[in-house]
Amino acid sequence: MAVQASELQDSPESTTVVVIGAGPAGMTVATLLRHSGIDCVVLERRSRDHVAQRQRAGIVETRAVRMFDSWGLAERVLGGVPYDGILEFRVDGHSRLVSDSDGSEGPPARLCPQQILVQKLTETFLEDGGDLRFEAADVSLHDLTGDRPTVRYRTADGTLRAITCEFVAGCDGDRGVSRTAVPDGELTAYAFDHGIGWLTVLADAPPPAHPLLATGREGFAAHFPRGPHASRYYLQCPPDDDPGAWSDGRVWDALRTRLGDPALVSGPITDREIFRLRSLVHDPMQYGRLFLVGDAAHIVSPMGGKGMNLALYDADVLARAVRDFVRGDDSALRTYSARCLRRVWNDQEFSHWLTRTLHDAGDCEPFLRHLARARLDRLFTSPAAAGAFAELMTGLDPTGEAVSHSALSDVTGGGGDRTGA
Ligand code: APR
Repeated sequence: MAVQASELQDSPESTTVVVIGAGPAGMTVATLLRHSGIDCVVLERRSRDHVAQRQRAGIVETRAVRMFDSWGLAERVLGGVPYDGILEFRVDGHSRLVSDSDGSEGPPARLCPQQILVQKLTETFLEDGGDLRFEAADVSLHDLTGDRPTVRYRTADGTLRAITCEFVAGCDGDRGVSRTAVPDGELTAYAFDHGIGWLTVLADAPPPAHPLLATGREGFAAHFPRGPHASRYYLQCPPDDDPGAWSDGRVWDALRTRLGDPALVSGPITDREIFRLRSLVHDPMQYGRLFLVGDAAHIVSPMGGKGMNLALYDADVLARAVRDFVRGDDSALRTYSARCLRRVWNDQEFSHWLTRTLHDAGDCEPFLRHLARARLDRLFTSPAAAGAFAELMTGLDPTGEAVSHSALSDVTGGGGDRTGA
């Protein structure tokens, strides 16, 4: 329930940016702002333990590693191990290695589970004196198109509080309150259901030598490292399938068949669920002084590992733009949405291409299966195709780095103009 102004016990606090949500997006925005000496307050609905344990993505792409490096923060916020950039494809059990190495200078990607990144960002932010408030309930956003928005919330002990600010960073994921604070009709939603389900399984079982994507007549499967002793597996299934229908024995049998590895070592399964592959983009990613960051603005299907990396991209663009604003230049804030959306659509296209290729190459009607296998063949034989793939995997493609002047949107008043897409 939204906190009413009349219920507030104290006069409002004041800061430069209120960050809503302490996931990868929110903690990156907050850490970069704090590092720039800019005041911010982070409001997170859940407890610190809950946020620190949430397992999802597992790879910080090369571009994102170099982004943290450019802030002088890579050593402090990145855990895990460097990734050698080699991805294994198995088609009908035959293995092909594809490298994302483009010969460029700089640190490589990292196999860094999301919860490790969030834990380290949180530690860094707090060590630098950051203000992070967990278990903030009933967060609500007000006056987003005025000069000073207000964010209200209820503390864990029930006290009602308000914070006024220059900007709100909406980093509260797909089901948060930030986007719902935008009046109907201001944002356009582009939604897509891929018609594919994935059973995702987390197990205490040896990780693969390289992240592994497999396709064949039995369908798609994948095997990714999650730390030195754990793995995440994916198995294509009907979108409405029942996880209860997947006994441990059935999971391991299907993985051995689809990965083409009869000797695959099993281990205790610690988590399993089924989800539909879907994609979603909200345009623009701004309303007045509210900026949407990460999953609050877009969902990308997991193929290609772009979800968390897009969130890190948005966070970097926003933090730099706020830093410029504080120094008297609002032009980067005005291009925030257009710039992020260019990369979002670029990565949506890559993820969609890889999703279709690996699923169509498996259990699909013959014409589409042949097309998908021709695409894989090109990837495995053409240096130019492999180079384009590497550029997309690393995130080092130049997409989104320049935005034309006509894409500027209004930061300081009105509802943000309808640019982009
Ligand atoms: N008030 C405060 N906090 C909230 C609220 C709310 N009303 N609603 C949600 N949150 C918090 C959640 O508890 C969570 O900690 O916002 C955070 C959102 O985090 P994520 O859902 O992880 O979103 P984001 O940070 O954008 O993540 C980016 O990483 O692995 C991927 O799937 C993940 O693609 C996503 C990406």
